Amino acid sequence: MKKLIVGNWKMHGSLGATEALCRNLYNDLKRQPRLTQICEFVICPPFVHLSTAVMDTSGAPVSIGAQDCSAFTEGAYTGDISAAMLRDLGCTHVILGHSERRIYHNETDETVARKAVRTHEAGLTAIICVGENEQERQQGRHREVVERQLAGSLPEGANTENTVIAYEPVWAIGTGNTATPEDAEAMHAFIREKTGDIRILYGGSMKPDNAGALLAMPHIDGGLIGGASLKSDQFMAIAKAAQKD
Ligand code: PGA
Repeated sequence: MKKLIVGNWKMHGSLGATEALCRNLYNDLKRQPRLTQICEFVICPPFVHLSTAVMDTSGAPVSIGAQDCSAFTEGAYTGDISAAMLRDLGCTHVILGHSERRIYHNETDETVARKAVRTHEAGLTAIICVGENEQERQQGRHREVVERQLAGSLPEGANTENTVIAYEPVWAIGTGNTATPEDAEAMHAFIREKTGDIRILYGGSMKPDNAGALLAMPHIDGGLIGGASLKSDQFMAIAKAAQKD
């Protein structure tokens, strides 16, 4: 199975920066066709740059994802974007329940599950994020927390076609503190027991120099990459690190 390499651009960049990054990715992937035999690629720019990203990567082996969607189908929800709107634009994936949304927007597991239902109804793949914070890890409650998040955030009907899980320990996101490959693998094996064959990505300070060891783990099926996805050479170097030979 190919590794799934997902870039989460968060609230970074301008229209011009998005165009430049897409152009670089397009050219890099053209030059290195072997990479697409070992990896699948998804990039998730901010909402307002999605259309541009869809156009600028047209013909390249890169799918486009959003960073969130509404829990509602349509209606009077000022400022919200529905999953169907994202599908219309040409998106194929939606990141849901990222810890930054759980923390800054008080998203609960229940909200995430409702958004995932809308995502599935629209025919898109939900990338559902789970992960413990530092205190929960120190208290040895990380498995319990992730188990609860999985039970609450994955809706009925989640399967290998429409869902990807991202394990992102909150203490590793944007901090430079990656989980060790062994700790990450232990959690991924635990998640696998609960969710079967659904793909599981690792996220949290994944960089070119630690990606090889993480992606070599049997239950780590790819990466959800924040900071390092904003430079196409780093993003490509992470994908290259997935190569075993
Ligand atoms: P990071 O972000 O790679 O910058 O740690 C990962 C994420 O939040 O998805």
